[in-house]
Amino acid sequence: MTNREHILEPFIFGLLPGLSQKKNPDVVLNQSPIMTEGEWGDMLLKTGFSGLDILISDAGFLTEKSVSAVMISSAVESNTLPQIDVYAIYDESNAAQKAFLGYLHQELTSQKDISINPVPLSSIEKHNLDQCFCLFLGDLDGNLLAHLQEDQLEKLKTIVSVARTVVWLNFQDPLADELPTYGLIPGLARTLASENNECRIISVVLDYAKGVQNAATNVVRVLKSASHATGIPEDEFYEKNGLLHIPRVITDGVMRDKVFAEERIVRAPWKKLENPGLTIATAGHLRTIHFEQTPDSGDTLGPDDIVVAVKAVGLDNRDYLVSQGQIHDKAFGSSCAGVVVRISHSPTHDLRVDDKVFGITRSALRQKVRCKSFQMHRIPENMEFSEAAACVQVLCIAYFSLIQFSRLRKGERILIHYGKGTLGQAAIQIAKLYECDIFITTDNLESAAFLRTQFAVPEEHIMPLNASEFCSGVNRMTHGQGVDVIFTSAPSQNLYDLWQCLAPFGRLVDTSAKEYPNYSKNTSNFPNGENKSMLSVDPQSLLQAPKFSEILSEVARLIKYGKLKAPDSIPIFHQNELVNAFKFLQNEDNNRDLVIQIRDNEPTAMTLSPHKERLFNAEATYFLAGGFGGVGRSVARWMIEQGAQYLILPSRSTVEGSGSEREKFVQQLRDQGADIRAPQCDIANLDELKDTLSQLKDMPPIKGCVQAAMVVRDSSFAKMTIKDWHASLAPKVRGSWNLHKALPVDLDFFIMFSSSTGIMGSFGQSNYTAGNTFQDALAAHRLQLGQRTFSIAFSMITGVGWVAENSQVQALLKARGMIEEVTLNDIFELLRFCCDAGQPNINSQIITPLSLPADLRTMGIVEPLGSTRAIYSYLHILPSRYDVSAASGDKPAHQPLKLPSAALQNALSFANAIDIIIEAIQTQLSNLLVVGKDDIDPKNPIHKYGVDSLVAVEMRNWFAKGVGADVSSAEILDNIGIADLAKKVGVRSKYVKDDLKEGRMR
Ligand SMILES: NC(=O)c1ccc[n+]([C@@H]2O[C@H](COP(=O)([O-])OP(=O)(O)OC[C@H]3O[C@@H](n4cnc5c(N)ncnc54)[C@H](OP(=O)(O)O)[C@@H]3O)[C@@H](O)[C@H]2O)c1
Repeated sequence: MTNREHILEPFIFGLLPGLSQKKNPDVVLNQSPIMTEGEWGDMLLKTGFSGLDILISDAGFLTEKSVSAVMISSAVESNTLPQIDVYAIYDESNAAQKAFLGYLHQELTSQKDISINPVPLSSIEKHNLDQCFCLFLGDLDGNLLAHLQEDQLEKLKTIVSVARTVVWLNFQDPLADELPTYGLIPGLARTLASENNECRIISVVLDYAKGVQNAATNVVRVLKSASHATGIPEDEFYEKNGLLHIPRVITDGVMRDKVFAEERIVRAPWKKLENPGLTIATAGHLRTIHFEQTPDSGDTLGPDDIVVAVKAVGLDNRDYLVSQGQIHDKAFGSSCAGVVVRISHSPTHDLRVDDKVFGITRSALRQKVRCKSFQMHRIPENMEFSEAAACVQVLCIAYFSLIQFSRLRKGERILIHYGKGTLGQAAIQIAKLYECDIFITTDNLESAAFLRTQFAVPEEHIMPLNASEFCSGVNRMTHGQGVDVIFTSAPSQNLYDLWQCLAPFGRLVDTSAKEYPNYSKNTSNFPNGENKSMLSVDPQSLLQAPKFSEILSEVARLIKYGKLKAPDSIPIFHQNELVNAFKFLQNEDNNRDLVIQIRDNEPTAMTLSPHKERLFNAEATYFLAGGFGGVGRSVARWMIEQGAQYLILPSRSTVEGSGSEREKFVQQLRDQGADIRAPQCDIANLDELKDTLSQLKDMPPIKGCVQAAMVVRDSSFAKMTIKDWHASLAPKVRGSWNLHKALPVDLDFFIMFSSSTGIMGSFGQSNYTAGNTFQDALAAHRLQLGQRTFSIAFSMITGVGWVAENSQVQALLKARGMIEEVTLNDIFELLRFCCDAGQPNINSQIITPLSLPADLRTMGIVEPLGSTRAIYSYLHILPSRYDVSAASGDKPAHQPLKLPSAALQNALSFANAIDIIIEAIQTQLSNLLVVGKDDIDPKNPIHKYGVDSLVAVEMRNWFAKGVGADVSSAEILDNIGIADLAKKVGVRSKYVKDDLKEGRMR
């Protein structure tokens, strides 16, 4: 019973002898089972229990409505409690710290098992704190970490490197709008736990509003719990309304169901789906390619418009490059074939409903495509949809390039460079039609044989791609005259080599698109006055131009009369084989286009688009810090697609007028129709930020902020410089706080991109993780002020951003157990929820899925140091989400790694055990350093492979858990070969049986 004010319970207990409230209120107070929660806690402590460990109230947080509660406490034998000597480190020039020390002394006068020894911060070097239990008061007012000085940083390093336990105290006034610096401590402490398992940091955030006396009582509780705890000890405490709270990472079912609801994916026969269209969530990750519901193209058709039900779509290398983000586009598939299903009431063309057509349009890989009539033509009789889709684009480009553009004449000599490709083969067909003398280059004997038999080209006319060979071949076979026309579609070919093969009055026609990432053409130094022409075809704009109609009709006519045909043996895939289709395109050996054939009755998955209405207000401005970063750029594009019209993208460097990539990016956004400002502004500088905002007063009011700025300066805490500490903190701490202060208070949303590294701790990133947990605290603070705010702790983001751009960082994070990935689509789904003021804002902190301990075990990844902290205890009971046996396609290759521990226990001899250890070291190093396992020679010392002290500590943890041996960082970095190190480690390994070790000794 916890509510003395409730009438019923005092009445019942009052009936018991001696407990009548009327008779003797003192007795009721002292002996009645009706006590407040605080009184229960004190009573349990006084009577040999561990205090109120867990309280589950019958009325949730509404304590005044609560009548009873379930309370859990453990019996502690007071006479067995060891005496703890606590070394209280404080700044002797700080009155508040000294005063609090006084309160603690007072609190402890009646406690026999704790003694406090004050240690002034200025002289900690003089005290031997080795393996001591320290109480750190130096950050009591929260001013330390955000304003850290070099000497203070060094002192902190000393403390955490020698002490056994550090209880870190911090007061927070939840009612004041002050920098919530308490948020920095968990990020620092969680990372320190992952860097050093010999010192335990316990953070205690005290509630200033509840008074120092109450705080002192709670600190004593923490000291007792920290020194006497059994099992996994608690190491984060937050005092709220006078009670100590502990944090847990748990599943947020509401958020999961709201944001990532499974029902959003439907599966039905293709023809029954509502407008599926192909898209990719994260460029570069083929597994994120999927069909998504596309907006209805509307009822009213213009006189030129037709709607085609798509039956087959051609895909080529360009589509593959789009899927990889190497060509910035969203449209997949342009050549298509299908059936006309709608035309306008007063058409200007002769196409009719039910006509079978083929042609070119953008984004053809969808159920129905709306296009202009000039883009389609009736399919010649007896031609299959798949053949029509396979040939229409290449034949049209080849026909235009050779016949209309370079005016190829009957009997001319033509060199078709790289004739093996689908476009090259189309050019060969046209050249044959014009009875040309054909020369071809290709890459291997097999393709040469294919071209020879397929097109009856003489063997000696088919030459290797090597410039000197084809130049001399052409020269020899044309008696030094050269060819009249050269056709090339290879983006990286040196055109000058081809130019040399051209006869006077010759034409070199280049159809390779400039948008290709490996496009490298330079024609500026071509000699003038040789009566030769260089012609450049841009396939994309050609295919969209009305002139295309004429080309398409002619190609259709030539097909009809059997003069041209579709390529033989077209690779055909169906709509459910997209990943395989793109892999086929990826394989350079195939070098062929393919066709996706639609099966109308085949069940197909499609993501529903619930978001018909635009998310952002076109009359408002949105502030996007970090908008030029990898993730920020994608968010900026997405915001504009979702209706944002005014964006401010600050950058510390000059963008406007710089001619930089950033300026080009701004132009791309402006081309999307938005008003973009890119002021030079460091958000960590409040004056600069305020100045910037005042100069942008001509924009509509700011209604939302996304804060995705970050600076990464990795180093273990032991080696952290003060410069790196503040460089990483600046955008996250000062930057976020300045935005909180300088932006209007009535924003629709304020979203900070924090990181799951803040939640899990991340080796070598104490500055970054502290910045991230600060953002989590700031989000909670703003929410308390009634401002819609979220901090989203993302796991590793794939496809874009700093991690995606640094393969070594990715590998390191994975080796450290951060295997969970977030796609851009996940980010957009979360943003859609957070930016929508109509959605609830109950929790300010969102964490995207974390790697579970069970996942790591399944993968054979050694759990990182610090992973067993109490905050993660819920994660430990969850089952693994990876069924490694089912890993297929391009799902992340989370192949189970074999930890050496099991193999070592089954080793047959000591030599066998050493071999197992050597191989395991090679595997682990290759994972950590992103090098091939075979490149690691056991004769070499580990440091030869660039292992630094950061990676050495990582290896140390792995040796301890995977090999069962304690190996110091110095030993790992020593100048001793891997094989010799393995022998040393083998002797120490707890997994290698003693008899094997003894056998070795004998
Ligand atoms: N990438 C990931 O896998 C990942 C994972 C979890 C969380 N996140 C979070 O996602 C966000 C974006 O990450 P990212 O990978 O896109 O980072 P990024 O590519 O490094 O971009 C960060 C951007 O922040 C800007 N910036 C830094 N300090 C600034 C300051 N004081 N004022 C204004 N701008 C500043 C930088 O621009 P200037 O240099 O021009 O100022 C840079 O463009 C970060 O908050 C990060 O913590 C990312």
